[in-house]
Amino acid sequence: MPSIKNAEFVKSSANLSGCPEDIRPEYAFIGRSNVGKSSLINMLTGRNKLAKISSRPGKTQLINHFLVDGKWYLVDLPGYGWAKVSKADKERWKIMIHEYLLRRRNLLNVFLLVDSRHEPQKNDLNFMMWMGQHQIPFSLIFTKIDKLGGTKLQKNLASYREALRKDWEELPPYFEVSNVKKIGGDEIIDYINRINQTVKA
Ligand code: GTP
Ligand code: MG
Repeated sequence: MPSIKNAEFVKSSANLSGCPEDIRPEYAFIGRSNVGKSSLINMLTGRNKLAKISSRPGKTQLINHFLVDGKWYLVDLPGYGWAKVSKADKERWKIMIHEYLLRRRNLLNVFLLVDSRHEPQKNDLNFMMWMGQHQIPFSLIFTKIDKLGGTKLQKNLASYREALRKDWEELPPYFEVSNVKKIGGDEIIDYINRINQTVKA
């Protein structure tokens, strides 16, 4: 059973040069505002208040580094796609996130979170395309599965995969989580541990 023994907040950074030294494996969480990125970090680390969460979108504004067991980083990023954000803020987000994702050398995988209740959204699909074009390795995490019954969930996931097949020959690995019911965390930690092992080898 995989588990995280210790997790600590390291720092919040407004740009790449503010991030901690790039000497440890790193995993980032991204996706639309309110999808549950910060909540997932809390579930994975077993620390309810490690990352700040809110029912209002736009809570996370900076690049937040958390050190896990003294060995690797989890990174909480601000969300995109929130209608009330000004053009200037959207542009700031894009510059910050693109710089981070394109140039962070120790970033081993990006987890893109999508809400399991919704149809595939254009900005999520575009964001995947962008990561694909830049050869940034990513996986998908379907969140808030507690809000759907099993049949509806499977139907939504199937239609999501169907939409992805239009753009992708090979589908990315995907996970299903509920941060509320604490489901799906072990699989993600397992996946991260396996990648960490390949770096050590
Ligand atoms: P930003 O920082 O604004 O980009 O949002 P975020 O993606 O970090 O979302 P956050 O973790 O702050 O959660 C947003 C809201 O969704 C909060 O009210 C959470 O309690 C709720 N939430 C998160 N995960 C789940 C889940 O698995 N199930 C349910 N039912 N609610 C969730
Ligand atoms: Mg957040």
